[in-house]
Amino acid sequence: MSKYEFIDHKYDVVVVGAGGAGLRATLGCAQAGLKTACISKVFPTRSHTVAAQGGISAALGNMGEDNWRWHMFDTVKGADWLGDQDAIEYLCKNSPEAVYELEHFGVPFSRTEEGKIYQRPFGGMTTQNGEGPPAQRTCAAADRTGHAILHTLYGKSISESADFFIEYFAIDLIMSESGRCVGIVALCMETGELHRFHSSQTILATGGYGRAYFSATSAHTCTGDGSAMVLRAGLPLQDMEFVQFHPTGIYGAGCLITEGCRGEGGYLVNSEGERFMERYAPKAKDLASRDVVSRAMTIEIREGRGVGAEKDHIFLHLDHIDADILAERLPGISESAKIFSGVDVTKEPIPVLPTVHYNMGGIPTNYMGEVLNPTEDDEDNTVPGLMAIGEAACASVHGANRLGSNSLIDLVVFGRSSSLRCSEIVSPGLIPEELPKNAGLNSIERLEKFRLSKGPKPTSELRSNMQRTMQNNCAVFRTDEVLQEGRGLITGVYDSLSDIGIKDRSLIWNTDLIEALEFDNMIGQAMVTMAGAAERQESRGSHAREDFPDRDDENWMKHTLAWLSEDGKIKIDYRRVHERTLTNDVAYIPPKERVY
Ligand code: FUM
Repeated sequence: MSKYEFIDHKYDVVVVGAGGAGLRATLGCAQAGLKTACISKVFPTRSHTVAAQGGISAALGNMGEDNWRWHMFDTVKGADWLGDQDAIEYLCKNSPEAVYELEHFGVPFSRTEEGKIYQRPFGGMTTQNGEGPPAQRTCAAADRTGHAILHTLYGKSISESADFFIEYFAIDLIMSESGRCVGIVALCMETGELHRFHSSQTILATGGYGRAYFSATSAHTCTGDGSAMVLRAGLPLQDMEFVQFHPTGIYGAGCLITEGCRGEGGYLVNSEGERFMERYAPKAKDLASRDVVSRAMTIEIREGRGVGAEKDHIFLHLDHIDADILAERLPGISESAKIFSGVDVTKEPIPVLPTVHYNMGGIPTNYMGEVLNPTEDDEDNTVPGLMAIGEAACASVHGANRLGSNSLIDLVVFGRSSSLRCSEIVSPGLIPEELPKNAGLNSIERLEKFRLSKGPKPTSELRSNMQRTMQNNCAVFRTDEVLQEGRGLITGVYDSLSDIGIKDRSLIWNTDLIEALEFDNMIGQAMVTMAGAAERQESRGSHAREDFPDRDDENWMKHTLAWLSEDGKIKIDYRRVHERTLTNDVAYIPPKERVY
């Protein structure tokens, strides 16, 4: 095959990404009798969902009274009132059924003495709308919950009739002149062949872009490929300035040490041996939400109470917990702590530091996964043929800050809802629009631009410049001065794309080329992240402006929308937060002060 020929496919639904969201959508579409393809750049069970540790939230009430409405309250509050409450209602109400479904698929959840699914406390999860004791709402398979879910979903998916295209790298969307998404182009990394997938619906389940930062719990594959395709299609991304720092990345390596540690009784101390979270969150303490804990840790370090020779990190103690409990409930992080910091968790504290973990922002969608392209007349206008789910999407259920364990549930609830929507709107075998003439030529141009690039700078150098800029200039605390400097620096990195040079000119397993394409995907998202952060003059959730320390609902209770043109120009606009619920089963939760 000439490298400029396409291998063509037709599907009712094409799902891009095989993590928890992608697999759940694939399964649902295949079960609905739709001809479904799932395309993944890694083997499905290596998708980043595999690294999720502490658990999946659902108000099952197995370990004390619980109610999905309390879960909704906590999620709205955790999101600092930037979440869309119709979508949050959908998430929390459907969570118990989604978890029981996983159980019936075969997920090996840990068990209580009575044989029920084991649930642990997690940050920001409470009872009685914050007035009662912490909720035990996070369903766990020890500290390897994502691993258990991903493997089960993959096994279940391949028992259906979906076709998997594994180690295929999606390059770009195919958009028709009318603005409909009619499929995607993907590169088979093993053979170098280009495939054109023509479909009624394309579902992006491509995850976050955590690797735009220097220190992240995210896998190196988390490069936000789908979101970048959306930007290149001239569509906006939403709320990109909201980047979550997980309080407990292992100092140095950045690997995740689950919040489940604090759920099981672990606590943080500073160099004075003080349990400082008591000062910052008198009620929830170490189980305050992640933005609160990450800020507290950063302040402790800044004020000279960090631990270690450089006083630049914090200790997480688990050594007071029974060694048998640690072995049963936290075996994974016990091993990670040993490998990455040489610590025996039964005897010593783990050195930890807030580390980039999750992107609340992403491709704007409604609760059925349909991608939004707001117009002047209709803020909830949808893009025909295009859906997004999981971390790639911004539904927006996490608003300005996601609660721990609300990610895994987001994957399966919205993976399922998108497949239900496909079963309603897709007529099997009937693709509404033909492929446009020249469909996919832009993908070839993009591929060739990088494959033949001869500039003086390797991808690694540009990537490192981007990662350090994001880490230094768009971190836990932000000021106008630092963000404006960041805008200049990140634009400089964006402009230096023209200096990129790769060495491998082949098309067979060309990881040099794939890294360049991934960098190109990340740098666009880094640009709009920095711009959104510089524009938002308030503090809300994970976006902490030292020069604007308060939340400003009057001016800023709105979603940021950001467009990026090829020449690096950014357009920012805003969209109203949905101040409404989906049904009358629950009342709208009005904004109030957010304290833990
Ligand atoms: O800490 C954790 O186990 C992470 C969970 C999450 O991000 O939801």
